[in-house]
Amino acid sequence: MPAAILGGLGTYLPPRRVSNEELADRFDTSDEWIRTRTGIRQRRWADTGQSTGDLATEAGHRALKSAGLGLGADVGLVVLATTTPDHPCPATAPDVAARLALGQAAAYDISAVCSGFVYALEVAANAIEAGRVDTALVIGAETYSTILNPHDRTTSVIFGDGAGAAVLRRGDAGQLGSFAGFDLGTDGANKDLIWIPGGGSRQRSTHQEPEAEERYFAMQGKKVFASAVRRMAGSSAALLEHIGWSVESVNHLVGHQANVRILRAVAEQLGIDSQRAVINIDRVGNTSAASIPLALADATGQIAPGDRVLLTAFGGGLTWGSAALTWPDISPV
Ligand code: COA
Repeated sequence: MPAAILGGLGTYLPPRRVSNEELADRFDTSDEWIRTRTGIRQRRWADTGQSTGDLATEAGHRALKSAGLGLGADVGLVVLATTTPDHPCPATAPDVAARLALGQAAAYDISAVCSGFVYALEVAANAIEAGRVDTALVIGAETYSTILNPHDRTTSVIFGDGAGAAVLRRGDAGQLGSFAGFDLGTDGANKDLIWIPGGGSRQRSTHQEPEAEERYFAMQGKKVFASAVRRMAGSSAALLEHIGWSVESVNHLVGHQANVRILRAVAEQLGIDSQRAVINIDRVGNTSAASIPLALADATGQIAPGDRVLLTAFGGGLTWGSAALTWPDISPV
């Protein structure tokens, strides 16, 4: 049975570190509130002029290196998950593919907010398993600092910028690095829990300019918290049952880094020891579509080849998704 194999992992964080103390100077908040309510100690924000495509290109280049490839590699598909594309039109992926000299590779963006990387992995794995491409580059990249409302302390303290990328190759089911399955779902009836209300066709069709506040990312934190726990735990359990993996056999739970309390609650609901939950939100904040590859790269010292890894994410849409794989012998760059 053909399967998609994880062949390389690359990450890029913009250099500018933003501490909780720096935000406390700008908002009515404190290091203590941010640390205890979210687990975040610092995040990175892009420099002036640094776009999502710039971060994605760097992470993509590093993932290619990690897979033993380089610029101009024979890659048939680039899928870029992002909430913050370089332009409303066109997609950012073709530009990233061109900057990586990937010839005429198919390239498109996926809009599934914080679940985007899992969604992108799923479509790339499907393309490989169907025999349409041999190698795919999957990227999650975000510059949330460009859409955060400067008057909203609830969202401004949570989100960070960054990018992570994975190379997927064709291999065989059961091989180290192989994906064992995916579970994806949505609940569009609750789209307004996480959104940017203005600036799209819904608002433009009224022929009125959006109010300034409507152009920014907005979130109903408490409701999102409860949904995130329920959906990530439910999706993870459904996937494990579908592929026949017991909860005990999962060595590492790599959840979307939304809030350390969400990650602990998901582990608890699943019956996974919280020691097996990978956590790096303290260093990077919530980086949305970049969150899972950044957490994976940070955890590679703890994850051994052959370990069973469960990925799970939740985000705007509402969307959620989980993926399971056995860890390959790779070194992230
Ligand atoms: N600093 C200080 N106080 C803050 C604050 C901040 N940055 N943000 C909110 N508060 C205040 C609120 O105003 C509220 O005050 P009140 O009780 O006087 O009304 C109080 O803290 C509690 O607010 P609440 O929203 O109930 O806090 P919470 O415990 O739910 O934590 C989040 C807020 C946003 C951290 C939490 O809901 C969360 O993490 N949600 C999920 C967010 C997420 O990651 N979403 C991304 C997609 S998965």
